[in-house]
Amino acid sequence: SVPFTKKTPLLGFKSIPFSSDDRVVVPEGYSADVLYAWGDPVGIKGNMPAFKQDASNSAAEQAVQAGMHHDGMSYFPLPLAATGSKHGLLAMNHEYTDDGLLHVDGMKKWNADKVLKSQHAHGVSVIEVEDTGKGWRVVRPSKYARRIHANTPIAISGPARGHKLMQTEADPQGVEILGTLNNCANGQTPWGTYLTCEENWDGYFVNDSGTLSANEKRYGINNKGAGYNWAVEDFRFDLQLNPNEANRFGWVVEIDPFDASAKPVKHTALGRFKHEGATVTIAPSGHAVVYMGDDQRFEYIYKFVSRNKYNAKNRKANMGLLSEGTLYVARFNADGAGEWLPLVHGQNGLTAENGFADQGEVVIMARLAADKVGAIKMDRPEWIAVDPRRPGSVYCTLTNNSDRGKDGKPGADAANPRNGNLFGHIMHWQENGSDAAALGFKWDIFVLAGRPDAAKAEHVGNIKGDAFGSPDGLKFDHNGVLWVQTDVSTSTVNMKEYKDMGNNQMVAVVPETGEFRRFLVGPKGCEITGLAFTPDMKTMFVNIQHPGEPDSERNDPAKPTAISRWPDGANAGRPRAGTVVVRKLNGGVIGS
Ligand code: FEO
Ligand code: CA
Ligand code: CA
Ligand code: CA
Repeated sequence: SVPFTKKTPLLGFKSIPFSSDDRVVVPEGYSADVLYAWGDPVGIKGNMPAFKQDASNSAAEQAVQAGMHHDGMSYFPLPLAATGSKHGLLAMNHEYTDDGLLHVDGMKKWNADKVLKSQHAHGVSVIEVEDTGKGWRVVRPSKYARRIHANTPIAISGPARGHKLMQTEADPQGVEILGTLNNCANGQTPWGTYLTCEENWDGYFVNDSGTLSANEKRYGINNKGAGYNWAVEDFRFDLQLNPNEANRFGWVVEIDPFDASAKPVKHTALGRFKHEGATVTIAPSGHAVVYMGDDQRFEYIYKFVSRNKYNAKNRKANMGLLSEGTLYVARFNADGAGEWLPLVHGQNGLTAENGFADQGEVVIMARLAADKVGAIKMDRPEWIAVDPRRPGSVYCTLTNNSDRGKDGKPGADAANPRNGNLFGHIMHWQENGSDAAALGFKWDIFVLAGRPDAAKAEHVGNIKGDAFGSPDGLKFDHNGVLWVQTDVSTSTVNMKEYKDMGNNQMVAVVPETGEFRRFLVGPKGCEITGLAFTPDMKTMFVNIQHPGEPDSERNDPAKPTAISRWPDGANAGRPRAGTVVVRKLNGGVIGS
């Protein structure tokens, strides 16, 4: 084993109990204040419309306001390359829309304006934030303020740029995509850029031609989509009319938060799948390494190693690092060893005879390529975190997989050891030689989530400390505390096997002790996802996603906020996702 490079951080807060309250609960001695909720103006000069509680803001207004359903998030100190903790940028994802809440009358009388508002409520926000001494505020207006949404022009890099499978009538060269969708988790590069990851993009597309390609099927594209109903008004999402448009989604997108006019880039060298996050570290050799999960049942864990090296003195050169390199997929062997299998055209059967004409097709059909090379099917890989105190030590949440072991589905294996895995687990691996670019590793299961009082033995798990299930968000803070956020689905949270376990939560653990301690519980019907820290560790930003779900189903007009009135309380027209600022009342280090 590899020694930790810095001293072990200590958890000093008093653990909180489960909560079913409609508020954010934090430990004694901490505060939690809302900073930026859906519909709040992003801060563009001369264009800062306020949120209207009846959701009557127009599509044009939504394009300059916070999107819906906040997810992954990063903090960047201002100015560029500074290390201060009082002034910075927050870049954050807006994963998807609940159109029942987004429009005054929900999805009744569907029209092109509603589709446009939904498209504008997706994507990313960049906001300028500062600590005034009396708390944090969003700086408005700000030259950094920016919304990127489903219609923002985005460049393409890597092997799929210009590929014939990327060409459309609107973009015959295959070099520019409109928009980014279903932005789930994220990444932050050492050169000061933000990575946003496209997860369940398949659900926006419809193909009712009666014929689906193997590639379309492999990503779950079908004749209905997931209920967004865009294709009827915006034919870009009708695959019968625009068969290649879906190939232009499912990527990791790099954004420069310091330049509101910089065009984002989809980096196709990192592969196309249902990207959860993209966690960046620099290998001892200087190569950039990106760890990525594909969040669906029985999907894979990937990593990318850049061809060129990181140069701390040349930010511009680093902007091309994710454009060229090698994509790998993980194989977890039963003996505790693991391998990174290259997804490279011409190797491991990824040949023209087997349906992969070139490297462009390998990355566009990354799932089919990973099937071919013999990767291991995991229990929904979500976030990945690299220990800042122990090089090459990596953790990944496997949120759950109720289908494991069902008829016709893969059964338990060494790395996914529970059939009917309702509580999930956290995997750990140590790269050989502590080198993130290594081709082999040793793995173990860090924890099997669960509850000690479960009726069924397979749901008990082996958590030391506070119980949780469905781990999803996962991030190390600057001191080496690992924070775990849960996403128990609305159909299960606080009921069935999760009865009396309260709303979704966030727990902390120090790898050496393995003791989990509950730090935060969210309001009713929410998911906790997305977190960021200031360099001094005195401020933590946490995102609360879909509070009140399912107050409004997609096909139901907005109902009164029966489940949640968070964050606006009595005056709430509808619940809103939001960013929360967590601080210690005595100004101390979070978690200490
Ligand atoms: Fe968007 Fe896998 O969570
Ligand atoms: Ca997630
Ligand atoms: Ca999840
Ligand atoms: Ca979610």
